[in-house]
Amino acid sequence: MIKTIAGTKDTLPFEISKWQYFENFVEEVMSRFNYKEIRTPVFEETSLFARGIGESTDIVSKEMYTFLDRSQTSITLRPEMTASVMRSVLEHSLDKQQQLNKLYYISSMFRQERPQAGRLRQFNQFGAEAIGLEDPLLDAEMIIIAYDILKGLGLNSLEVKINSLGVPSSRENYKKLLRMYLDDKKGGLSEESKKRLDSNILRIFDSKIESDQKIMENAPLLLEHLDDGSLEKFETVKSYLLKAGVPFEIDPRLVRGLDYYTHTTFEIISRNVGSQSALCGGGRYDLLASEIGDRLIPAVGFAAGMERILLACENENCLVIPEDEVGVYIVRLNNDLYNETYNFALQLRRNSVKAELDYSRKSVKAQMREANKINARKTILFGGDEYTNNEIVIKDMKSGVQEKIGLSDIEKIISIIED
Ligand code: HAM
Repeated sequence: MIKTIAGTKDTLPFEISKWQYFENFVEEVMSRFNYKEIRTPVFEETSLFARGIGESTDIVSKEMYTFLDRSQTSITLRPEMTASVMRSVLEHSLDKQQQLNKLYYISSMFRQERPQAGRLRQFNQFGAEAIGLEDPLLDAEMIIIAYDILKGLGLNSLEVKINSLGVPSSRENYKKLLRMYLDDKKGGLSEESKKRLDSNILRIFDSKIESDQKIMENAPLLLEHLDDGSLEKFETVKSYLLKAGVPFEIDPRLVRGLDYYTHTTFEIISRNVGSQSALCGGGRYDLLASEIGDRLIPAVGFAAGMERILLACENENCLVIPEDEVGVYIVRLNNDLYNETYNFALQLRRNSVKAELDYSRKSVKAQMREANKINARKTILFGGDEYTNNEIVIKDMKSGVQEKIGLSDIEKIISIIED
């Protein structure tokens, strides 16, 4: 028996209506904010992610599905969409056609992480990217959209955490301070954090190890060492969020795992999904375009993990979808009408009716059981004396009321089914 690879999942028919509802809801909210969908290839040149996300990040150094294809080109299955979306904007000069491109996606991503609840190797994200302007209103809009979607799904245990990483110059000065602070404490750091001292010192704040966290408790904070311009932008983002009624807290230790961020970063956490609690993350990335392309394009965005959100919904008992229904089940009374029954169902289906019938010559009783099982609102009894008189019987499954109608009066039949 060949089975799915660890960290990947089938979405089975009984789960699909949740996904469809979720995806439709995301599309609807995105369209209210006038974001347009973008689709990019599942794989890209490895250098796009290495340069875009940063060589020293966990994603690039440990988690990417990278391989040489038959022409010896290094290919990577996308671990996230932001670099791909920016590549696409640059490649097609979308930024030259309009100043602001508001884009969204719902797509699968690939990261070779250790699988656990809420952490997969192929997972789905929805996300948005507003590419072209520096206005902090767009930073706030990203948080508002993400928050509105999660709230709209019925989630309540949400915490919005925001921070600012400023610009590279103030960050570099701050990193020197942090290095000085850690200089006489590095012996107490974990091996992982010791490595980060040189490669990605800010990420030491992300360590889950208690001894690291203790050391970082008294570390100087980047937010306290931002330049005035960055602080002003951060204040503006906060004021927009307040006006929009999005509750948030400032988390000066929120550094995020991707290198491309400048200014605003944020995450939305659920208190209801266990250790993989980040439902959504994002921020501003004004320098990404110049890392992977030939020009500067300011941008801000976010992405949200759909499997994690569905887990949170399960735990909070939201996103309960009504059971699937079928408009009509056609019960064949005589097996010699096999073809005629099928053609009648086909006629209804071609007239937009969701119709089902038996494909295996079951007994009338078994067909009735099947009609109940699939939640048919009506049944049509097809055959017997009525058929000889060119009629059928429509039965309402709830009230039990039956009605006889001419076989050729399709309009009337449809209106009763849809009643
Ligand atoms: P990220 O924080 O790496 O950001 O991922 C965003 C969300 O994807 C996470 O908060 C989490 O819900 C979900 N996620 C990440 N890894 C996994 C996994 N292995 N299994 C299940 N869910 C996962 C980004 O991807 C950035 N591109 C966000 C962004 C867009 N920043 C600016 N624009």
